[in-house]
Amino acid sequence: MKPEAIQQLYTDTEEMLALQETGYVRQARQVIKLDTAQYTDEAQFSLEKERIFKRIPLMLAASCELNEPGAYKTMDIAGIPVLLVRGKDGEARAFLNSCTHRASPVAKGCGKAARFTCPYHGWSFGREGNLIGIASREDFGDIDPDEHGLTRFPVQEQSGLIWAILDPDAPADFSAFLGDFAEMLGGFGFENWHFGKRTVLEGTNWKLAFDAHLEFYHLPVLHRDTFGPEMGNVAQYQYHGPHFRLRHMGKRGEPTGFDNLSRLHGLPREEWPMEPLFSGEWILFPNVSINSFFQGGRGVILSQVIPGKTVGESVTIQTYLHETPQNDEERTAADELVSFIAHVVRDEDLPMSQDQQHILRSGYQKFVQFGRNEGGLQHFHRWVEHCVSADEARPLEQLVAAAPDLP
Ligand code: FES
Ligand SMILES: [Fe+2]
Repeated sequence: MKPEAIQQLYTDTEEMLALQETGYVRQARQVIKLDTAQYTDEAQFSLEKERIFKRIPLMLAASCELNEPGAYKTMDIAGIPVLLVRGKDGEARAFLNSCTHRASPVAKGCGKAARFTCPYHGWSFGREGNLIGIASREDFGDIDPDEHGLTRFPVQEQSGLIWAILDPDAPADFSAFLGDFAEMLGGFGFENWHFGKRTVLEGTNWKLAFDAHLEFYHLPVLHRDTFGPEMGNVAQYQYHGPHFRLRHMGKRGEPTGFDNLSRLHGLPREEWPMEPLFSGEWILFPNVSINSFFQGGRGVILSQVIPGKTVGESVTIQTYLHETPQNDEERTAADELVSFIAHVVRDEDLPMSQDQQHILRSGYQKFVQFGRNEGGLQHFHRWVEHCVSADEARPLEQLVAAAPDLP
């Protein structure tokens, strides 16, 4: 980790401790309204695909999901089929999951493969995306295999996470967009963590589904039967470019069980354990949240909210990672946690967003509102608007340099 990133972790933590001490909750300057079309309009969604999902670095996998050469994972992101695979050289790559003969997917699901053989006519591709075999080559005719490898997307693997830009012509350096935030995440040490489990949940418009990750206002109400009605509803936000952190503050000012910052109280900074510096929820723009849990050992759930083929569809992929190998008891405890979180999102958050979508589509409700206590939502939607309003030719550095105001 760069010294600036370590410094930033301490600065964030000191600021949060000071806020907890005074009970002061930072609020957005005003209540804002968002037009309903943001959630329902196909033209808006097309722009989001072009100007966000094909332009912004997307965190697609944890490094430990591709833990050895040949380990692969397929995904469909806003209608773009993607194949992630680790090569013999240890490098993670991302490809369009499409055979260069006649566009059949060359892989399904996830697993480990020495090569990818197309299920249609049998062409095969290496783990580095190169075309290595053309069935009945003498009959097919003369083409240059070097020019017909899988279409490759730029990838950056950093802090144990794998990002890709779904534009083959995008520059390979993502640092302008990831900034110090990705560097700070390096302190988790995800490159040495272990893949536990994956849960895929179907949902509605990707922004409606993601909104539920960005505030705690709804916790004691929508989740009264799971997290409980006593749960506080206050979040403190810390913004880092397009990304941000949020911490659960419980009833005004009080730290809660979600946040292990209380372990630092009364200790001089030199004696601080590292782990609480990573507490709270980490939001990677545009569609990922990372939450820490300590049931069955230290772990995180990475939630990726992936747009589907239309404005009204998404999937939420919850990937559970754990820091150390687990014994049976820990695995059982972690399984319970993973099932619980899946239950909360599948049976409480996502049905709510389905209902919202139904109403928004009726055309009568013209806008939704984000309160002064929902700064993270304001920040997220401002960044969506910022990206969507800047045409594709605008480089990422400029997009970040011209950042919208903070809430
Ligand atoms: S489409 Fe892949 S071999 Fe024909
Ligand atoms: Fe929720």
